[in-house]
Amino acid sequence: MLVLPRGVRHIPGHFDRVAQEALVEHIRDVVAKAPLYVPTMPRSGKPMSVRMTNCGALGWVTDRDRGYRYQPTHPVTGAPWPPIPEMLHELWREVSGYPHPPEACLVNFYTETARMGLHQDRDETDLAAPVVSVSLGDACLFRVGETTREGRTVSFRLESGDVVILGGEGRLCFHGVDRIYPSTSTLLKKGGRINLTLRRVTLPA
Ligand code: SIN
Ligand code: FE2
Repeated sequence: MLVLPRGVRHIPGHFDRVAQEALVEHIRDVVAKAPLYVPTMPRSGKPMSVRMTNCGALGWVTDRDRGYRYQPTHPVTGAPWPPIPEMLHELWREVSGYPHPPEACLVNFYTETARMGLHQDRDETDLAAPVVSVSLGDACLFRVGETTREGRTVSFRLESGDVVILGGEGRLCFHGVDRIYPSTSTLLKKGGRINLTLRRVTLPA
């Protein structure tokens, strides 16, 4: 059996097909107001293979000049991010074990060749809150390691409707997406994978 690092939880099939379809509709509304864009890496300006947008009071963005950060507005349109759909607030209340709402929901869109290198989520001030993520559409090979880059890693498949939680001792575990498995889901008409990542950014007042 696959042993995950402490604090890392995988909930296969948390959302059934009907709920997944509803979530996709909500994400379509988000993307209509806050279009997907191509983020670039700090310093090098190298484009990421994943396209991104956000909903929530704050959104995670990156570009060559200003690097990784949270901001209240879309970097291309300048508009405030649309609100986080209620279904995702519900998920957070169910699984986060954290008494305050999430502030950011990063929307990652993966085409069949996109991937995400091993990294930590550490741009948040409040690390007491977990990172809660939802997979929709094509399956992927997800990799998770320890809290150092050199640590042992394990990889496993994430399917549409799965939820992953990085909390407690697992909050700063390295993680990434090695590959997408094309045509493994019928949820998204044009294929690809959507990942939604809910995070608390600031310390509650
Ligand atoms: C991320 O770490 O931002 C994305 C993880 C995923 O796509 O499952
Ligand atoms: Fe991440």
